[in-house]
Amino acid sequence: MTSPLDLEPDEFRRVAAAVADALATHLASLPVRGVSASPHPQDLIDAFAESLPIEGEGLDALLVTLRDRVFPLSMAIGSPRYFGQFNPSPIPIAALMELVVAILNQNAGSFLQSPVMTAIEHRTIAWLLELAGLPRTSFGQFTSGGTTATLTALKMARDKALPEVRARGARGIDREVAVYASDQCHFSIARSLDLLGLGNESLRRIASDDGYRMAPTALAAAIEADLSAGILPLAIVATAGTTPTGSLDPLAAIATIAARHEIHFHVDAAYGGAALLSPALRGKLAGIERADTITVDPHKWMMIPNEAGCLLVRDPKGLVDSFDQQPAYLADSQDRHAILPDYYRLGIQGSRRARAFKLWATLKVLGSAALATAIERHVELAQRLLARVRALPDFEVLNEPDFALFCFRHAPRGVSDEQLDENNRAIQRHVEASGEAWFATTVLRGRKVLRVNVESFRTTEDDVDRLLAAIVRAAREVS
Ligand SMILES: Cc1ncc(COP(=O)(O)O)c(C=O)c1O
Repeated sequence: MTSPLDLEPDEFRRVAAAVADALATHLASLPVRGVSASPHPQDLIDAFAESLPIEGEGLDALLVTLRDRVFPLSMAIGSPRYFGQFNPSPIPIAALMELVVAILNQNAGSFLQSPVMTAIEHRTIAWLLELAGLPRTSFGQFTSGGTTATLTALKMARDKALPEVRARGARGIDREVAVYASDQCHFSIARSLDLLGLGNESLRRIASDDGYRMAPTALAAAIEADLSAGILPLAIVATAGTTPTGSLDPLAAIATIAARHEIHFHVDAAYGGAALLSPALRGKLAGIERADTITVDPHKWMMIPNEAGCLLVRDPKGLVDSFDQQPAYLADSQDRHAILPDYYRLGIQGSRRARAFKLWATLKVLGSAALATAIERHVELAQRLLARVRALPDFEVLNEPDFALFCFRHAPRGVSDEQLDENNRAIQRHVEASGEAWFATTVLRGRKVLRVNVESFRTTEDDVDRLLAAIVRAAREVS
């Protein structure tokens, strides 16, 4: 008799078709539904306050729950008018491939448990290395996201600079160290330093210029000051597409400073790395090919569903020295690992989801040119929005977009900064509550600003114009 946990092939087909049907209906609703349902947290707690089901209710009940509670109360990340954090609409082909990954359920930590997925990850990494201009001898691996990719890179940098630490822990840190990143860097840098026992105070937040890009002169001065004080510069992190403004640090100038002092050079291209796919935009990232390590997040602008981060590493030996463990129960896999890696030996995770597969499959089905076209269109639409914001009275643009993201604010004359902060916060809330569009706010140089990121391949000129019309309406209401 079939286990109640299993599905006979015909039943599997029926269930999969029913789920696919529900999802297709959801996808079709995206252009017309509100972007944020703005549910109150208590309402959500109440909506799901059910006791543990001892007896299951069956699939039909679940489909009703999806239709009535899960889909409508979710943020419509795939909406053409979602202009939010780095969460582009996921490419449906990539999302469908998640099911393949789950059904095969390979353990991509070890070659033996995941031979094909290991080979596919190896190949996908080879494509990304080539795009980034790293040598063929380089290495890489998929991670849960940018935070873990950068943590892995900085652990490698720490263990290279302080080889005692792996064995002796904090007792092996015999001097003060410093890691340099711009004052616009992602919080994952500070978190990594915390996790690595180096402390948040070792992060030097280098002043950014008027375009929110790291100022190389300030970087060079900070390194000189630390060297004079006997502090060890451990790594420089340049950001290719910062979180608040999408700005691009001057990679080539920073690479030169890193090389001069022989400091580990990491590029956090979690967002902007996707531009490597585009022959038209790739040149902006010149200098990335000089990095020791690079974070790229396919689950950001490459439009692959969460989770898919990636770390590229120039010198794989550094990873081996920093991470390798060889437990006896995985020795069978180790014996065969000479050509393809056991990824568990070279990073944080043990068991691993085969995260490369969805990017590999997407590139196979659609080609990199299709992704590049979508990315280039986002840049174009961001420029359209920029021009329209510039033409409005009472609005102020805070940064020239390096990619498809920029910040602006409603700033009529004669209003105090505090009141402007309040008004801009209220503008975001008004638009969110209307469901017309969604975007975030952030703080730049102490002031609350509107942060708009064009990132959905469903977004059209009309969607951008509707977003701006909603912002202008909200500005009128709050003023
Ligand atoms: C520039 C940058 N780096 C790193 C990260 C961290 O990536 P993840 O959220 O995938 O851990 C982000 C996330 O937004 C980011 O914007």
